[in-house]
Amino acid sequence: MNAPTDATKLRLKNVTKSFFTPRTGSTTLAVAEMSLDIQTGEFICIVGPSGCGKSTVLNMIAGLDQPSSGQIDKDGQVITAPGADRGVMFQDYALMPWQTVVDNVGFGLRHGTPGEHLSAKQRQERVAHFIELVGLQGSENKYPHQLSGGMRQRVALARLLANGPDILLLDEPLGALDAQTRLILQAELLRIWGETSPVFERKTAIFITHDIEEAVLLADRVVVMSTHPGRVREVVTIDIPRPRAGHARTNPRFGVLVEHIWSLIRDEAYRAIGGGTSTKALS
Ligand SMILES: Nc1ncnc2c1ncn2[C@@H]1O[C@H](COP(=O)(O)OP(=O)(O)OP(=O)(O)O)[C@@H](O)[C@H]1O
Ligand SMILES: [Mg+2]
Repeated sequence: MNAPTDATKLRLKNVTKSFFTPRTGSTTLAVAEMSLDIQTGEFICIVGPSGCGKSTVLNMIAGLDQPSSGQIDKDGQVITAPGADRGVMFQDYALMPWQTVVDNVGFGLRHGTPGEHLSAKQRQERVAHFIELVGLQGSENKYPHQLSGGMRQRVALARLLANGPDILLLDEPLGALDAQTRLILQAELLRIWGETSPVFERKTAIFITHDIEEAVLLADRVVVMSTHPGRVREVVTIDIPRPRAGHARTNPRFGVLVEHIWSLIRDEAYRAIGGGTSTKALS
């Protein structure tokens, strides 16, 4: 492995995670010997069969969980706890139902470190900026139950961004949305991440998905994991030019890359859902 360069934002070194279940006395090796360098401004997608350790990896980068052995460095420092520098977003919105859009987006600024040095007016301006960025102006005073699933996920994204993290950790954030809303939010995410901006202005993003096409559309590199135990099977570089929103799917490389990634996980994915080994006809 090469020495870390200035552009290395995250470094996973031989990360292993096992879980002990006292009730059964059994140990699950969720992630084994995972090593990966992620560069500043990179968009990484992680795909792999259910149970291969994707969320476990993300939780360890978030500092919500610790590796059993190995370590994860951010900017050369070992990650030991959660921090506002890493924003996490899950599939299920995790909005506070009793708070309006404005209050949900501003939550971290009111209660956490990101807003400590801001005046009330600066916080308000920041919240308004991110609400506009995700296209929710006009819905500021609505409650989550008055919003569609896509709008709720925009609120969650605005809240994440308002806290000013430099790493976005996204665990199937579009997984619960219908297909069309999902396509729209994929394009929005690329815009917000900074697809048309210089690399140094982009956030570093790690995005888990089960949707291989989504991974190929979004990522600079796709980390394909295999299961039992969770390992990196292959890291696939997505050599499709940016900006991609709107065009990438018509690029002949798109289908080739999707097929290649699917070929890497097909058999395990079938087994994970209780089916037999795939055949060519079923693929
Ligand atoms: N807190 C825990 N205690 C015990 N086992 C766990 C715990 N968290 C995860 N595991 C186990 O670790 C393995 C990896 O789980 P993880 O949630 O990371 O998979 P995943 O790839 O995110 O799956 P999915 O695609 O279904 O979300 C699984 O076998 C899971 O049962
Ligand atoms: Mg998961």
